[in-house]
Amino acid sequence: MKGKDLLSVADLTADDIGGLLDHAQEMMGTRGRQLEGKTVALLFEKPSLRTRVSFEVAARHLGGDSLFLSPAEVGLGTREPASHVARVFSRYVDGLVVRTFAQGTLEELAQHASIPVINGLSNQEHPCQALADLLTIQQKRRKLAGLTLAFVGDANNVARSLLLASAKVGVNFHLATPSAYAMDEDTVSQARSAAATSGSRLLFTRDAREAVTGADVVYTDVWTSMGQEAESVQRRKDFSAYQVDAGLLSAAPDAMLMHPLPAHPGEEVAPDILEGPQSVIFDQAENRLHLQKAVLARLMKGNLSRE
Ligand code: CP
Ligand code: NVA
Repeated sequence: MKGKDLLSVADLTADDIGGLLDHAQEMMGTRGRQLEGKTVALLFEKPSLRTRVSFEVAARHLGGDSLFLSPAEVGLGTREPASHVARVFSRYVDGLVVRTFAQGTLEELAQHASIPVINGLSNQEHPCQALADLLTIQQKRRKLAGLTLAFVGDANNVARSLLLASAKVGVNFHLATPSAYAMDEDTVSQARSAAATSGSRLLFTRDAREAVTGADVVYTDVWTSMGQEAESVQRRKDFSAYQVDAGLLSAAPDAMLMHPLPAHPGEEVAPDILEGPQSVIFDQAENRLHLQKAVLARLMKGNLSRE
């Protein structure tokens, strides 16, 4: 781990990821005092169930405290600039989890904060989700390298973090999107460079069946992410051939079906398979807690490395 923050999967080495997953696994069901006397603040510009609750519970499981603020209360960027918000938070609390729109807001907060800043979802990335998802896959399959994850739908924040994380740890990553919603070139090139080291094979296609065939994990997420609501009608049309349903999943009969939630059943995923035997969505949700306990324990003592 290069710095004090977790803003992007790009901040992590493969060893950082492996260490975090092992630490998270060890912390399952445990309580500790690692955050005793410390407070984590959550500043969220978008709604949340999992991220908010799992971070707040994680802080308490480690003997710490948490507080939640909506941007309307803080006036981030309107009442006062992000640089001042970061410097004031740094005088009161010991860590800041931020859910925001622009990745640049996170970077600005991190630059001016003396405390760790953690990305709790931006338009660009959702690193804690991707790490918790790798934990889920590792628990189910007892390994990561050499497995194939097929992501079907929008090349969004969740897809981007999963692509970068998979490429680092040697998971083959197949991404099926409509061509107008493909992954940006900069992320593809970062992923290719990580994959060249890890041996991960990457496939970018418009053909959902090609992506899914023989995969170990079939993953989908909403077609309309938070903040894109004005595009939802158009997106429903553009993605209509990308629903993960029983027919598509039959191309990967042994795969686990993953979704970060909240889902829009009947859009990106058929209701029967979301609730079906291949679905691991609630294990995924649970693992947000375990993974974030490891993130908090490590970052609050200075960095993400173990010792
Ligand atoms: N998966 C996830 O981040 O859920 P929330 O938006 O409810 O936090
Ligand atoms: N891509 C979704 C993920 C929600 C957890 C969004 O940004 O709304």
